Amino acid sequence: MSDSEQRQLHVPYREYHSQNNSSPATTAAAATAAAAAAAAAATALVETDALVDLSIAPINSSSSSHHQRLSLHNDQPPSPADLLPDVEFIPSLSNDQTLAIDSSGIDRESQPLLGRLELDVTFNRFPDDPQFSELVWQAECAIDNGVYPERIYQGSSGSYFVKNPAGKIIGVFKPKDEEPYGRLNPKWTKWMHKLCCPCCFGRSCLIPNQGYLSEAGASLVDRKLSLGIVPNTRVVKLVSEVFNYPRLDRQKARMKQAIMDQFPTVGSHFNRIGLPPKVGSFQVFVDGYKDADYWLRRWESESMPAHLSREFQLQFERLVILDYIIRNTDRGNDNWLIKYDTSVSKNGIEQGEVKIAAIDNGLAFPFKHPDSWRAYPYHWAWLTQAKQPFSEVTRELVLPQLSDQNFVQDLCDDLYQLFKQDKGFDRHHFDRQMSVMRGQILNLQQALKDAKSPVQLVQMPAVIVEKAKGNGTPRLFSFSDTFTQRFQNKSPFFSWC
Ligand SMILES: Nc1ncnc2c1ncn2[C@@H]1O[C@H](COP(=O)(O)OP(=O)(O)OP(=O)(O)O)[C@@H](O)[C@H]1O
Ligand SMILES: [Mg+2]
Repeated sequence: MSDSEQRQLHVPYREYHSQNNSSPATTAAAATAAAAAAAAAATALVETDALVDLSIAPINSSSSSHHQRLSLHNDQPPSPADLLPDVEFIPSLSNDQTLAIDSSGIDRESQPLLGRLELDVTFNRFPDDPQFSELVWQAECAIDNGVYPERIYQGSSGSYFVKNPAGKIIGVFKPKDEEPYGRLNPKWTKWMHKLCCPCCFGRSCLIPNQGYLSEAGASLVDRKLSLGIVPNTRVVKLVSEVFNYPRLDRQKARMKQAIMDQFPTVGSHFNRIGLPPKVGSFQVFVDGYKDADYWLRRWESESMPAHLSREFQLQFERLVILDYIIRNTDRGNDNWLIKYDTSVSKNGIEQGEVKIAAIDNGLAFPFKHPDSWRAYPYHWAWLTQAKQPFSEVTRELVLPQLSDQNFVQDLCDDLYQLFKQDKGFDRHHFDRQMSVMRGQILNLQQALKDAKSPVQLVQMPAVIVEKAKGNGTPRLFSFSDTFTQRFQNKSPFFSWC
């Protein structure tokens, strides 16, 4: 989808905010006048079945015969007519596009008016992953039917448990603008942190407010290496009144609703009535898991059956591989989960299972190795499992891929496709992120070849692998690229491993 198409679908909040500075009272008083004017426009509207967007358009956008724009001037109080929302016609879908939206067994005809643009729905469809598409669809249906997401209170960001229409939790949604230091983070502790301790605000090695991409990126790395420990995570857009929205967005949504209630004929042509969708990461919720800390403490006093202990070791090694490649800066024992079940079958054979889920991957993919006052160590490095050399099974699983430059290049390309969708994407920073990741892969590859242990791995000097200067091709990476390797010479003030 091109940029211009995207602008038609979703008017960013910033544009709305910068021009629509009317007070709530004025807005409410103007609603009726706006509704009347909208009714006048209805005569023209009923003649067409084109989709209609009620977004307020930027002042300087060019007008066309199809567009009726707002003309708000900052130096004059807005007249009621000024508050009439912009009516924008979006061309009808081609047959192909309609099929794409409707094809995944989704009966959109019977759905109520959704709080999002019709075309936006394609954003949440993943042709390569119908199961995930279906799950997000369930979440959307639930929200449309009043089964709202629930904020996770223990976290530092605005994260939400998302439910299906039956009220079962199926996912964890983390909107970009509610991340720990995001514009709309609802947690007062983070607000205080920003206010009272600005010097320690955020992590200097990470690109701020791209945690949702890091979450989805971790899942991508997991999928490509078949690690199977990160619950499937992708970037989606969701809208719900329980999310944290600026007051102006809520007022705008209420005004549209008032028009809808009083003039249903006009309202029925409005495609988006509600609040604007939020972009964020959506992670599949895994059932039956507990914080790793819980089981690690239990295992200090209770022993694990040998076969489960072996299985846990293999799972643990996959966690190490993931964290090391993405250079996770936030892997405390509360940020991974363990499912542990020791069932014994009727004939007395010990069965059971142990599985790891690597959640909360939002603080990874740094653009430089940590070099300021904190080292952000991997907390698993203190566990006894970290002292054992990597197993043959793990080495066979990942070493062939990590040693293949085409695979690494492919991984960088896929991450590029993912990361570039952020509005603040910066190619230079992305290249640096990839240089760190390539350095990590180089170390990991060597450690696996030498059958080192995770503890030995984290003690290896930090490496950066950069594309050699002077052979910059327009493509992100090309097969003819040469890379140079250098060691990071600056170390964090505190370093434990
Ligand atoms: N995919 C998941 N499946 C099951 N439970 C999950 C999942 N993701 C998160 N949780 C639960 O929600 C809690 C908070 O999740 P998470 O740590 O990802 O949120 P957060 O808001 O980023 O918190 P913080 O940044 O403070 O660590 C976890 O401790 C875990 O209990
Ligand atoms: Mg957490």
